[in-house]
Amino acid sequence: MVEIAGVAVTPEHASLRELFAADPSRSQRYRTSIADLVVDWSRQPVTDRVLRELHEVARAAGVAHAFHRMASGDRINVTEHRAVGHMALRAPRSLSMMIDGVDVIPEVHAVRDAMRATAERIRSNEQITDVVNIGIGGSDLGPAMAARALRAYGHPRLRPHFVSNVDGADIDSVLGQLDPAHTVFIIVSKTFTTSETLANARTARQWVIDRLGESAVVDHFIAVSTAADQVEAFGIDPSTMIGFWEWVGGRYSIWSAVGLSLMVLIGPDRFDDMLAGAHAIDQVMASGCSDNGDTMANPIVTLALIGVLHRNVFHRASKAVIPYAQELDRLPAYLQQLDMESNGKSVRADGSPVATATGPVIWGEPGTNGQHAFFQLLHQGTDIIPVDFIGFAQPNHDLVEHQDLLMANLFAQAEALALGRDGGDEPHRHFAGDRPSTLILADQLTPSVFGQLLALYEHIVLVQGVVWGIDSFDQWGVELGKVLASRIAAQLTNDDALPSDTDPTTAAAIEWYRSRRRR
Ligand code: F6P
Repeated sequence: MVEIAGVAVTPEHASLRELFAADPSRSQRYRTSIADLVVDWSRQPVTDRVLRELHEVARAAGVAHAFHRMASGDRINVTEHRAVGHMALRAPRSLSMMIDGVDVIPEVHAVRDAMRATAERIRSNEQITDVVNIGIGGSDLGPAMAARALRAYGHPRLRPHFVSNVDGADIDSVLGQLDPAHTVFIIVSKTFTTSETLANARTARQWVIDRLGESAVVDHFIAVSTAADQVEAFGIDPSTMIGFWEWVGGRYSIWSAVGLSLMVLIGPDRFDDMLAGAHAIDQVMASGCSDNGDTMANPIVTLALIGVLHRNVFHRASKAVIPYAQELDRLPAYLQQLDMESNGKSVRADGSPVATATGPVIWGEPGTNGQHAFFQLLHQGTDIIPVDFIGFAQPNHDLVEHQDLLMANLFAQAEALALGRDGGDEPHRHFAGDRPSTLILADQLTPSVFGQLLALYEHIVLVQGVVWGIDSFDQWGVELGKVLASRIAAQLTNDDALPSDTDPTTAAAIEWYRSRRRR
């Protein structure tokens, strides 16, 4: 028995094989639809009793209340004193959502209209062939991942590029493919102070000026930011800027103007479909969070609580997400930021230490590739790693026989992990089984289904953060490295004596670099 949020949770000791034998109906009962997604948690170590206990945890932690506070625009990001408004970004015009006493929905749609106008202008300009998104973290991973995921819906003339790393190899390789006269750069940074993005944007700007002259900047650069002053100081006309708001967290910002490059690629209507898909998930979440705190009928909360069970009761420190869809190859990286930047915390929102382990390591690769790499460990390693398998009935291409093989592999892996196989007198051929997974299935990876998938994971992260009592919407853990990097960057390029308080190991590394750097 383990206590979580003051509620005792006793794990189920029967194996998955035993659970299926005792209750064959679990494959129906533990499978449900969430909007257009079909979610199957029958291969998770839960029974009705365990699920009841877990939902008691959610009640005790105040999950339903926290969700409604988020939806009402309360400042649930307490350490940054901010509301958390990404649901407003995908709400229809007819709704209202108050943040700091203002209904933000009209502003959200005004910005969307501006995005639409910009996107249409680029899409209809035959001169433009390449769109380069420069940003990092939430200002890159969402649109970069989505542009790959929805490439079947992309504009045939427009080639997307995403530059994020301050490593010059990133922008160098992209610029090498471009003609400045045919390129639009979209510089995305919520703060417009992020050093990587500014370095890449400076390089791109100079590259354009060198080839087309200073006057070309206005036609070839668009800024997406909350900081008009910083945009202007950088040298981009703020009238070309599309804004958003401080209540949009970076890793929750694909739904905002941060998604502009995606909208350019797939078109405004499909972008709207993606938002509508996410909104459908918000509605499932809202209707499953009763005013009395009950979440039993909320399948999204159930998925989140299964994650809590793994982390806090079974002490499983990582979770794999395996999309059986090549287009979702960057989804694990996107979810790494979403989950690990949100819930990788060891103090609670009130500053006290957490009582249990918090967010797991999220990782993954598309199937079937992963099967020929790390699945050995998933099947026979000493750690049990829960897996989310994601798959689709219909591909976004015509090679149907490939899809049959692909999905056969997904189903086979889930079965092998859960049920295993007796190796007889050959121990190395023994599969113990009892390895949990969840299936997340849909007919096809459309923009709407894609939006549903991302919103589903967002709410899972929210619920888990509430159970752990942490602020899932700040990211103070990235600050120290930024401060030190900016100090060290200044020290690398001169020969001045290092300050006496420089850590000796870092000093040795700096001296090594100084002696070898290309001048
Ligand atoms: O490094 C952390 C972070 O602040 C992320 O949360 C954010 O998505 C990213 O940097 C980029 O920030 P910005 O959009 O302000 O450039």
